Amino acid sequence: MTIDTIQLKRQAAAYAADLVQPGMIVGLGHGSTAIHAVAILAEKLKAGSLKDVIGVPCSYQVEEEAMRCGMPLRAFDEIPVIDLTIDGADEVDPQLNMIKGGGGALLREKIIAQASRREVIVIDESKLTPVLGRKRCVPVEVIPFGWRSQALFLESLGSKVSLRRNADRSPYHTDCGNWILECNFGPIERPHLLAEKIKGRAGIVEHGLFMGLASDVVIAGPKGVRHIKRGEGGVSPSDFGKEF
Ligand code: A5P
Repeated sequence: MTIDTIQLKRQAAAYAADLVQPGMIVGLGHGSTAIHAVAILAEKLKAGSLKDVIGVPCSYQVEEEAMRCGMPLRAFDEIPVIDLTIDGADEVDPQLNMIKGGGGALLREKIIAQASRREVIVIDESKLTPVLGRKRCVPVEVIPFGWRSQALFLESLGSKVSLRRNADRSPYHTDCGNWILECNFGPIERPHLLAEKIKGRAGIVEHGLFMGLASDVVIAGPKGVRHIKRGEGGVSPSDFGKEF
């Protein structure tokens, strides 16, 4: 990651952190962009410019980082509704649908997103795409039992499938003890339909297609930060790539 990209990610996260109001329960997303928001919120709380904010982490890694920064936390088990979540994404299309899960936290991220009044996605502009699947695989979380059968099923839907592995070649385990199949579908013309088909299969726990869940997308690019809100227009096709 270049210093420029790190700066863009921090700018998007800082913008989103400014949307957090005193007294809010805030979902803390996983990934190199969302983690900046954790540090920024913790700094604001320490400085007293923000008060009474409680974080709900999406992953053990984020929980550890938030504790290191001194951010007050509650477990999601104790809190049914989250006011605002700040999370990253791997790809975002013009309808604000997304591919997520590059960091392996898709299941908990989706649970938190569905429980959030507002889901604010923070990205640098390289994540914009006219069609999902152009640049990134769709991660699919499966239980280890019978995983090869799920891989065959996903191939039957048109993807190339590989098991996500650690550096030592052992299977990557999610925080929930499941495995991840990386599914390369290429450009996905009908992501809603694909999402439904994938979800209908036993053994598949969740997939990284996040449809209709982002309320806001904060995009940092060399020309500054843009804030797109669902339903308020302002999405220009040219934002999402020349081929759109
Ligand atoms: C984590 O599982 C993902 O959904 C991340 O939010 C996504 O991969 C974006 O990560 P970066 O901000 O590190 O690019």
